[in-house]
Amino acid sequence: MDLTNAQMRDIETLIHPYTNLDVFRQTGPVVMERGEGIHVWDTNGKQYIEGLAGLWCTSLGYNERELIDAAMEQFSTLPYTHTFAGKSHERAIELAEMIKEIAPHDASKVLFCGSGSEANDQQIKLVWYYNNARGRPDKKKIISRKRAYHGVTVATASLTGLPANQMDFDLPIDRIHHVNCPFAYREAEPGETDDAFTDRLATELDAFIEAQGPGTVAAFIAEPIQGAGGVLIPAEGYFPKIKKVLDRHDVYFIADEVICGFGRTGNMFGSETFDMQPDSISVAKALSSAYLPIGAVTVGEDMYQAMLDESRKIGVFGHGYTYTAHPVCAAVAVKTLEIYKKRDIVGHVRRIAPVFEERFTRLGEHPLVGNARAKGLIGAVELVADKATKRSFDPALKVGATCQARAEDEGLLSRALGGDIVALCPPLIIQEDEVHEVFDRLERALDATEHWVNKEGLRSA
Ligand SMILES: Cc1ncc(COP(=O)(O)O)c(C=O)c1O
Repeated sequence: MDLTNAQMRDIETLIHPYTNLDVFRQTGPVVMERGEGIHVWDTNGKQYIEGLAGLWCTSLGYNERELIDAAMEQFSTLPYTHTFAGKSHERAIELAEMIKEIAPHDASKVLFCGSGSEANDQQIKLVWYYNNARGRPDKKKIISRKRAYHGVTVATASLTGLPANQMDFDLPIDRIHHVNCPFAYREAEPGETDDAFTDRLATELDAFIEAQGPGTVAAFIAEPIQGAGGVLIPAEGYFPKIKKVLDRHDVYFIADEVICGFGRTGNMFGSETFDMQPDSISVAKALSSAYLPIGAVTVGEDMYQAMLDESRKIGVFGHGYTYTAHPVCAAVAVKTLEIYKKRDIVGHVRRIAPVFEERFTRLGEHPLVGNARAKGLIGAVELVADKATKRSFDPALKVGATCQARAEDEGLLSRALGGDIVALCPPLIIQEDEVHEVFDRLERALDATEHWVNKEGLRSA
């Protein structure tokens, strides 16, 4: 394959996240050029539907004038100031007020940062800080779940429950543990009902905390829907049962709303859709429709009081980034939240979601699809060698990645996750006819993948 000048310069200069760096040297990158609405174009002029909203984040689509204007206005008034040592600015105050107002728990304060990883990293630090403030120096363990995705810093890659994020990075760090996740298709026993399965997971969590010693377990962190781990949608009763266990052992509950926050599941937060009742949330991505990097965590009054105590003792809250509450990022986030309200984005998702979910249900009948699942505007198909036994393909065959590539041929960007799971999570502004176009393209990609699987005899491989 002939590589363009830009592709060759890329290969010799950039390290690409989540890429096989060796294979990449032969294939080179797809270089993107521009976007409009739910579409992006590469430098060859090929148009794609952004079926994953970038990385589950460009909720308002591309070229949203109001966001661009908000950024430009802030750039020309005050492109940078900070919030260290008592300085502030109007956009940070406004944004914190807006987040407090919609947060799915009693939020007292908001602590900003630059990304989802930083948000969850802050959560860990705050939980440790809190327990020191409260005179419980042993209550420090954090429980996450297998297949979780909470980021890639040293601490948050430890929370993440995916092997590639930890292998040979010498992770996880200590005091972080993983329990089973509510992945019914793979983890429920044959014939086990949702109720029995979620009871079992809650009992397992309870037993795990007991075994560790409740006096050593500080927090539990969970995504409402596990995104990068495979779009794992919990059964209705799961989180209320988990919450009861956490309350019994005085374990702080962090909802990682980095993907599910701001309308994705048909409520403002996934915590509402799944009745999580968290003590705190982490947000990023759709907070600014991904136009600029910004994240945040909310803290309740009890946490805030503990932080005040630490400031009295130590003399300072010794944490913060140069770009904490960056004014241009904050201005874009304020505008993003205004647009969600003004255009009733949650209502729009609720109107469109039944079409999206129904098309996923139909995909379940495809010969390659073992399981199709969706909630709101996020969903996935899991490709299997045998639908009856749920037997997976050999991962080395890269059946999911092949389907993603065939979808790309059809002009649809999706994301192949581990376990041959192909995910969709389009911009929230997607219209009904565009949803149909997404699925028509994905169906053609699945047909092409099925054809290849049969031709190469991969089911018996
Ligand atoms: C649920 C969740 N939490 C945290 C993160 C990390 O966010 P970032 O990539 O902005 O650091 C992600 C990223 O995909 C995510 O999906």
